This record gives sequence, C-alpha cells and structure tokens, in this order.
Amino acid sequence: MSRIVDVGIDDTPRAGTAPLLKVRDLRVEFSSSSGRVHAVNGVSFELEPHELLGIVGESGCGKSVTSLAILRLLAKPAGRVVGGQVEFDGMDLLGLGDDEMRDLRGRQVAMIFQDPMTSLNPVTTIGEQLIEVVQAHTKLNRQEAEKRALETLELVGLPNAKSRLKNFPHQFSGGMRQRVMIAMALIMGPKLLIADEPTTALDVTIQAQILDLIGRVARETGAAVMLITHDLGVVAGMTQRIQVMYAGQIVETATTEELFAHPRHPYTVGLLRSIPRLDIGASRELIPIEGLPPDLTRLPAGCPYAPRCAWAIDRCLVENPSLTVPGTTEPAEGLPLGTHLAACWNPATDEEARAGMPASGHISAVSLAAQERAAAAAAALGGQS
Ligand SMILES: Nc1ncnc2c1ncn2[C@@H]1O[C@H](COP(=O)(O)OP(=O)(O)OP(=O)(O)O)[C@@H](O)[C@H]1O
Ligand code: SF4
Ligand SMILES: [Mg+2]
Repeated sequence: MSRIVDVGIDDTPRAGTAPLLKVRDLRVEFSSSSGRVHAVNGVSFELEPHELLGIVGESGCGKSVTSLAILRLLAKPAGRVVGGQVEFDGMDLLGLGDDEMRDLRGRQVAMIFQDPMTSLNPVTTIGEQLIEVVQAHTKLNRQEAEKRALETLELVGLPNAKSRLKNFPHQFSGGMRQRVMIAMALIMGPKLLIADEPTTALDVTIQAQILDLIGRVARETGAAVMLITHDLGVVAGMTQRIQVMYAGQIVETATTEELFAHPRHPYTVGLLRSIPRLDIGASRELIPIEGLPPDLTRLPAGCPYAPRCAWAIDRCLVENPSLTVPGTTEPAEGLPLGTHLAACWNPATDEEARAGMPASGHISAVSLAAQERAAAAAAALGGQS
C-alpha cells in the first residue's frame, strides 16, 4: 500500500467550464453462470477539461467497468450497458459508430492499464509501436511520426530516448515500461487520460515517480485525468476531486481536501482509517474495513453498505440512499462541481469520523451487530476507538 504522495497539484476545480465528460445514470451488467452481475448501478458524474479526478473503492466496486463502459471496451458478449448516457466533448459516445469510437479512443481519450505488458506488443519495438499509433490517426509520414515518438518519449522522461526507440518491451524495467505506456497514451495529445491502477504493479519509489509523471504531463499537455485506484493514498496529493465507489455506485464525492478533512459516508471513513496518513501522524493504527462487499448478483433492497456499517439505521435496510448534500435531502442535480455529496441516511459527523464510530446516542438496534463487528476488528488490531 502506498503512502500519500503530493505532486503539487492545485486542489481547486475550475468553475464555469463546460464539462469534457458527462456520465448520466450509467448501468452495466454482465451475464455470468451465477446470474446477472449488476456491476455499475446508476453512476453519474462530470469531468471538466484539465481536471484530475480520483475514482476510489475496494476491488470489484466497478471502477474499471465504469471506465471500460465509457470507452465501449466492455468484454463482449457478457458485458453490456443497460442504461444511461455518456457524453464526451459534446458527442454521444454510446451512440457512436464503431469506427468513430476506435478513432476517438486513440486520438482523444487514452487509457493506461495496471500492467503495461498487456498493452504493449512484445515482438515489436517501442519505436514501431509509437509510430504505428501516430500513423493510424494522422497523415504524418514516417520521419515525422518518428520525430513525434521521440518527443513523447522525452516528455515522459525516458533516458536515451533515441536509442530506446529500437528496444523491445522486455528490455525495459517495470517503471520504464509504464513510462512507455504513458507515452503511447499521450502521443496523440488526448483530452482525457484514464489511468486504471497505473502504479499497482510497481514498487513504492517507482509508484511515486509515475504518479508525479502523470501529474506533470497532464499539466503540460492539458489532458484531464481520471485516476482509478483502490488506494486513497494514491489520489491524495494528485487529484482535485475524488469519487468513492461502492457496489457499482458513487457513494461520496468532494474536493480532495474536503473529503480527507470531512468524510461523511461511513465507507469513506473506513477507507481513510485503512491507509497510512502522513497528515495525521505515522503512529496511527491501520484498521481494515470488516466484512465483504455485497454479491452483485443479489444486491440488497437498502443501502449496499448496511451489513458492514456501524452507522446503519432502520431506513438503511429498506431504501438505498441517493447522492445528496450530506445530512439534507438536497439532490445532487444542478449543484456546482466539487460540492460535497454523500449517499447516506446517517452520515458521520467530524467527531464520529475521527473516532471511526458513531456517537453512542445515535445508534439504532440495526447497527449494533455491525458495530460489534467493527469494534472486534479494532480490538484485534490493538484496541483503537
Ligand atoms: N467479464 C466479466 N464477467 C462477469 N463479471 C464481471 C466481468 N468483468 C467485471 N465483472 C464484475 O463487475 C464488477 C466490477 O468489476 P471492476 O473490474 O469494475 O472492479 P474494480 O473496481 O475495477 O476492481 P479492482 O480494484 O479489482 O480492479 C465485479 O464484481 C466484477 O466481478
Ligand atoms: S448509515 Fe445507512 S445509508 Fe449510510 S452507509 Fe451506513 S448503511 Fe448506508
Ligand atoms: Mg479495476
């Protein structure tokens, strides 16, 4: 697990710009032998040009499927979008023809995956692969395409870029391969870069360098970034805004600073207690969230976090909350980007978030069992309240 890395990004989302990406009520299902997997369940969000947005949540919460659905790269025939809209730069992506979509993917939206080896061709040199991308999307001749390949490798800080053009992927270290992948993603100057766990396969010092690189090239090229990770520490110093996902839904969103200072959703509170925090002292114990996410083939009627939630009240078992201004019924629609929103009937106060527990006066019978499980986990780890 990484520590919080600060790469010096301005934490303030810009106001008044038309969104680059608008996702509305996106729903994705997979058919599987155990039934229909409800992987993404009504995800709505916007991303402004040049913005750095973090998408965070435990494994299986729908982070990758959301981005694959946006890019129309869902595994076929099992996966399909069953509802919602995706608008990118004014275009309806779900209605675009396959050829137009393919062109858009290379040119305007690019994706970096966790394992660069799955995206690089092992039997072709890096130079050839970069040149191929340029020539597939432009009318540049070979010499011009090679010049662009070289410039992009230099942009991502690859030493001896000229001679490296002749190398094959296996001749690079993991960190250098990831730099090549970033070059491949950026070579057409995309408006949006989706980085899905770009540093998970790398060791900690290289992780920080790659995050720093993504932040720097985003600033230099003006690309917006969606940084997907299971680790809140990774997005802390890197993004302007964070969306926390659980069971295929966005359960909390706020500016990065606000989310870390005032988490409202009990799941975010749990995530924050499970990562090292340089800002509040290294000696604090890390407490993992007890229990498992729900089975996405059988989602409960109420809040999907209820079985793990110490804050649960009766309503949580029967009604799934929508995103609202925490503690109010004011819906998310129409509010400025960066407004703090949470999908929770009984959001945590600052004091409760610090304690990792609801104040005793507020506890209903429903949450007692869940609370006892959380307390037992804390005690097993040294008894922090
Ligand atoms: N091809 C598939 N067939 C069936 N279910 C799938 C398929 N791909 C993804 N899913 C399911 O969709 C849900 C969301 O998966 P997704 O890959 O988006 O999770 P994630 O948040 O990216 O997790 P991780 O952090 O492990 O990458 C999971 O329950 C997963 O099992
Ligand atoms: S308090 Fe209720 S609505 Fe909020 S996270 Fe817990 S179970 Fe879900
Ligand atoms: Mg994933």
